Formats: sequence, C-alpha cells, structure tokens
Amino acid sequence: MKRTVTTLQKAKEEGKKISMLTCYDYTTACIVEEAGIDCVLIGDSLGMTMLGYNDTLPVTMEDMIHHTRAVSRGLSNTFLVSDMPFLSYQTSIYDAVMNAGRLVKEGHAQAVKLEGGAKVCPQIEAIVKADIPVVAHIGLTPQSVNAFGGFKVQGKTTDNAKQLIEDALAVEKAGAFMVVLECVPAKLASLISKKLSIPTIGIGAGAGCDGQVLVYQDMLGMFNGIKPKFVKHFANIGEEMKKAFMAYDEEVKACSFPAEEHTFAISDEVMKELN
Ligand code: KIV
Repeated sequence: MKRTVTTLQKAKEEGKKISMLTCYDYTTACIVEEAGIDCVLIGDSLGMTMLGYNDTLPVTMEDMIHHTRAVSRGLSNTFLVSDMPFLSYQTSIYDAVMNAGRLVKEGHAQAVKLEGGAKVCPQIEAIVKADIPVVAHIGLTPQSVNAFGGFKVQGKTTDNAKQLIEDALAVEKAGAFMVVLECVPAKLASLISKKLSIPTIGIGAGAGCDGQVLVYQDMLGMFNGIKPKFVKHFANIGEEMKKAFMAYDEEVKACSFPAEEHTFAISDEVMKELN
C-alpha cells in the first residue's frame, strides 16, 4: 500500500504504529522498500554517517538533493521525507520555501523535515502554503548542538518540558503533519503524543510515540564505539561486513579467488593464435 500523508494520519487515528528509518542510497532504499517500512528519512545525519563529519552542520542542499534523488529511485510505496539542512530555512521565509521546493522538485521528496518549534512556525506555515507537507522536529535538534552545548536529553525540567509541549502544539497549529521527538523523556513524549492529533515519531522518546525512527547504520550495528542508549542493534552487519572483507583480502592474497567458476573461458584455438 502506498503511504501518503493521509494514510499516516489514519494510522495515528487507528492506533497503528508507524515505522521510519533513515536511508541515504539507492541499494539500501530497495531493501527498506522490500521490508515494508512506512517512511524513509533522508536525514542530514548523512553528514555523519555517509560523509564522516562530526555533526550535521556542514551538510549542504546539494548533499541532500543528491542523496534524496538516489533514494527516491529505490522507493515506490514508502513515504519519502527529506531533511532541510542547517541554514537552508533559518535565514528567511523565502529561503525556506525555495529550498523545500528544491527537495521536492529536484530530489523527489514527498515531504520535508525541519528542526525547531515555535521559532520556525512562520517557515512551516509558508512551506505548507506552497503545498509541501512538513515534518517538524523538536527535543534534541542536532543542528542546535552548539547552542545546547552537546547532544543532551531535552525536556527534563518543568520549564523545558512546558516549552516542548508548547513547541509541539505550535508546529501542529502551523500545519506540520507529523513531528519527530528526539531524546525526550518517555513519559513527556507520551503526553505530547496524546495532546497532538498529528503523529509523533520518536527517537530516544519511548514507546508512547505514534511511531519510531532510527538511523539505519545504528540499528544494524555498523558503527563501532558509540551506541546511544536509545539504539537497539537488530543485527550486527558491521561485524559481518568486516569478516567478509577480511575473507576476500585473504583469498586474493592466497590466489584462491577468483576460482574457475568466477572466470570467463576462451577457446584454445584462439589462444594458440595469440601466442
Ligand atoms: O538526521 C536524522 O537522521 C534525523 C533523525 C535522527 C530523526 O533527524
């Protein structure tokens, strides 16, 4: 079944959970599509997962369009959301609409996601007026990492929690059709999910959200080292890849790959004429 803003809204109304994964390339998009995941997010996390930056701030519109377009070629039923990178919408309403439009027109996104609550509502309203569906993103918003002083759980104090509730209600009123809650205490995320009529998608926000999103390299165990508390490894693909790369290296060096069955034949007559 093709996912749309309408089917995602209906899922919330019927109490059915929504699955979302990040995705950045065609091959992975085909696998995600076959797995029946509801939504794909071309996150600006690609700055870290694909490009090796320390945070998402250096990601450009060109990076986002390039990866969004590649993913779109692998999808047919999965709903495609693309992230608006740092400074593509904060600078003006005009920039916000133009850049959201580029993600749709050039990247083939079905919706765009931007970070921030009440302060980005004018941008959300303007993008929605251009008939582009918007996913809001509140809580830990990685583009504000320097302002936050690090990647920290949000909404733990009364004032901060009240602010998050206000932000959630404000983005809904501005026209966002979905909202990502990142690194928010589970009980607060549950309360926000009940207060909103649009679906909430949690990452580090507990099971009370209407859906969940994870960065696919995190859930596949492709990163050694940091494993945020909210990540579950559903497989250990990083280790499997490493084992396969090592086996290949060994076989190449031992001359056991390629074997007979991996090679193309030529007749002895032709060979004789060449010698
Ligand atoms: O960029 C991203 O991948 C995200 C998700 C973590 C929600 O914004």
